[in-house]
Amino acid sequence: MYSEKVMDHFTNPRNMGEIENPSGVGTVGNAKCGDIMRIYLDIDENQVIRECRFKTFGCGAAVATSSMATELVKGKTIEEALEVTNQAVMEALGGLPAVKVHCSLLAEEAVHAALWDYAQKNNIEIPGLKKPKNDIHEEGHSI
Ligand code: FES
Repeated sequence: MYSEKVMDHFTNPRNMGEIENPSGVGTVGNAKCGDIMRIYLDIDENQVIRECRFKTFGCGAAVATSSMATELVKGKTIEEALEVTNQAVMEALGGLPAVKVHCSLLAEEAVHAALWDYAQKNNIEIPGLKKPKNDIHEEGHSI
């Protein structure tokens, strides 16, 4: 039911852990399944994401999507990182079972929440970035 890539990122997650003094940190969860995901970003003066790490308390798909999301946003500018949607994360993982789509939404929203935190701390506005919710469900998202 899971692709090889999902299994790979689940058993050997990339960028797991914290960043000390992060530029931005975002935490989101899903009240239904109880899973929680936290993303840390280190962003340089040119608004490029130098480092991205995650901590996830959740299912295998949540771990795999966090891992892949950190890989996809690393080295990107803020604008580019906004384009790393849950769809992009799922594609990079070779797909997810339908009941696991919300796990990838957590990854997208956790990145957005961390970017939001960065914007707040630096008093800037990131075009296209909306205030993140912290309880993430499929409803209201195009999947
Ligand atoms: Fe909820 Fe995976 S089952 S994040």
